[in-house]
Amino acid sequence: MPQAPAPNLIGTSVPRIDGPLKTSGTAKYTSDHNFPEMLYGVPVQATIGKGKIKSMDVAEAEKMRGVVRIYRYGNAPKLYRPNGQDENAHVDETRPPLEDEVIYYNGQYVAVVFAETVEQARAAAHAIRVEYTEEKPAVSLDLSDGFNDQMKEISKRGDVDAGFAGAPVKLDQTYVTPVETHNPIELHSTVAVWDGENFKLFETTQSIMNHQAAMSQMLGVPKENVQIVMKFLGSGFGGKLWPWTHDVLAAAGARDLGRPVKLVIERRMMFSNVGHRPRTQQRIRLGATQEGKLTSLQHDYVSDTSILDEVSEDCGEATPYLYSTPNLRIRGNMVTRNLGTPTAMRGPGAVPGLYALESAMDELAIQLKIDPVQLRLMNEPAMDESNGLPFSSRHLKECLTTGADKFGWSKRNPAIGSMKRGELTLGWGVACASWIAMRMPCKTSLQLNDDGSARISCATQDIGTGTYTIFAQVVNAKTGIPIDKIQVVLGDSSLPPGPVSGGSWVTGTVIPSIANAADNAEKQLIDLAVNGTRSPYHGRDPKELAFSEGRIHLASEPASSGIAFDELLRKGSLRFIQADGDSMASFADPNANKHSLHSYGAQFAEVEWDPGIARLRVSRVVSVIDVGKVLNPRPARNQVEGAIVMGIGMAMFEETHYDPRNARPVNSNLADYIMTTCADCPEIDVTFLDYPDKVLNEFGARGVGEIGLAGVAAAITAAVYHATGVRVRNLPIRIEDLISGSSNKQHFA
Ligand code: MOS
Repeated sequence: MPQAPAPNLIGTSVPRIDGPLKTSGTAKYTSDHNFPEMLYGVPVQATIGKGKIKSMDVAEAEKMRGVVRIYRYGNAPKLYRPNGQDENAHVDETRPPLEDEVIYYNGQYVAVVFAETVEQARAAAHAIRVEYTEEKPAVSLDLSDGFNDQMKEISKRGDVDAGFAGAPVKLDQTYVTPVETHNPIELHSTVAVWDGENFKLFETTQSIMNHQAAMSQMLGVPKENVQIVMKFLGSGFGGKLWPWTHDVLAAAGARDLGRPVKLVIERRMMFSNVGHRPRTQQRIRLGATQEGKLTSLQHDYVSDTSILDEVSEDCGEATPYLYSTPNLRIRGNMVTRNLGTPTAMRGPGAVPGLYALESAMDELAIQLKIDPVQLRLMNEPAMDESNGLPFSSRHLKECLTTGADKFGWSKRNPAIGSMKRGELTLGWGVACASWIAMRMPCKTSLQLNDDGSARISCATQDIGTGTYTIFAQVVNAKTGIPIDKIQVVLGDSSLPPGPVSGGSWVTGTVIPSIANAADNAEKQLIDLAVNGTRSPYHGRDPKELAFSEGRIHLASEPASSGIAFDELLRKGSLRFIQADGDSMASFADPNANKHSLHSYGAQFAEVEWDPGIARLRVSRVVSVIDVGKVLNPRPARNQVEGAIVMGIGMAMFEETHYDPRNARPVNSNLADYIMTTCADCPEIDVTFLDYPDKVLNEFGARGVGEIGLAGVAAAITAAVYHATGVRVRNLPIRIEDLISGSSNKQHFA
């Protein structure tokens, strides 16, 4: 096969092709869609955490102006549970809303009002009177009840008990991360249209294909009668991976009432009805030699899940392969609480898991009086010791050494509180990062037009991360067609099925599919060149021809000697040719299966502690990231910078508080749920190592997103210890902990 043209724009900062639509305000987000006769839906939330509905008085609400229908238990359209037959029809909260009168969590929808305007719907929702039989909800913040003999073994090697017992140096600590709530600026929204036979659903989703399959099952209609559209997303962070109960309520309402429905949930509903990162409690036991070689590693973790569903925070995700140790055991468990069903949040599992593991490594380094960078370098494994597989491409040591250089780590005085900047005490900390790398199955369709333009389409979506632009860059690299002549069409389930925007795997996934489509287009063009009577290559042997720089030419001659593909189409009186691309998941790929595929990073953080006024600030972060080849440094850097900002929130601010009396999220708004603001942001220095990982795809790109959050909180708490001598093992860091010097206070209600 002829060589692909040089990937000249791969690795360059191509501006986002969807940028002008967004900056001009013309990009249509889900809730921007409007239809004649459209109704507005507003759900009513339960005000207790556990119990039953005793009575519901809707009489006053039903008489209010503009109210068309109020659904509640007893009169709601029939909805169904996912049948479990299709793993691409995933739903985290599987109970159809309004199914019974039982209240499982505070905020659960007990009714939904449909009215002519959103104000009318909201007014009527407020006028509904509900009486409950109330029970005491389970909301304890102490998850210790999960550390029992029901713990599931996740990974094991050697004999951890003997390894730990015989270790000259031991560490045994418990780390806690709180419930965190996803707060993308864009609220979860849906606009549902029913035409008597088909649903057209405009959704805020990170997966139109999963959404289509799941909604088909929950609404009880064939998949081909459900179309999902999502052109732009105001972020998701995992909260929009799967459908939630408001989605089916809106669609069922549209079908039952025969009118389009718009339902935008309120910010406070984002805190109870659309998932959260569950609380975790993690016990880490490390055994080591005096010289700092790990001899035993145990990671036991428990997270909370809802009464309704089992969704686990897999904290042991990155633990089995990060360090070399002959003995290792990871166990996990869940405990149930009267909260909404949890879901994935950026870097699910690995992010809270690495907070614990990397905090423990820092504590061990201090115990051993070994530099924390050095301790990690000393325990670098030669292969993935959990399965004996070679790493496809792992440069964690270089992340650490490059980061140390850029940060100035060699100037660190390890003595607590010893480093000063004027009145301020400085703290320097480090932690490692890792995240999975994989590919999912992907189909694409590439159309080459007789005007020299191209169209690439795929039923995946751009969730704000730069996917539109990545598609254009890969088509450009494979065909030589200029970026501004490439139209990228995503975000519609009627297109060839593409991946979920999750797991940071979209970039790695789409490359082989687009490459396959381009190869198929090339075959068709060459076929046309040798068979077309008006083609200059009529009658030639197809093997002599090549397609590069947008031209068909003799492989032995430069592209400029040949004929532009669009001219060839015009000579053949063809408007376009269309070529399919298909690629398989990495887990189905025998070569990928022979490797351990992960991304890596090192996070260095500096904090400034002002003991006079008890003020803590993150003043500097240096992040060195190994995600394979970076296709487009601009959005890649944007991903890592955003993740670091989120990591500062995880370390210092974010926590969803529940009222112990009724399990209500009490800080369910953007004023009380504290997130990192611009004023909290430090200088952020991001470096990509840029080593292609050719096991994953031909450009060697693993995709970038979640990796940037991993390790950040541990680096910050390590820096806080260095500045203050207080070890924070319960996130987020509280000023009162730093003042009182109490390092392990359990923040249980
Ligand atoms: Mo990510 S938590 O897989 O959207």
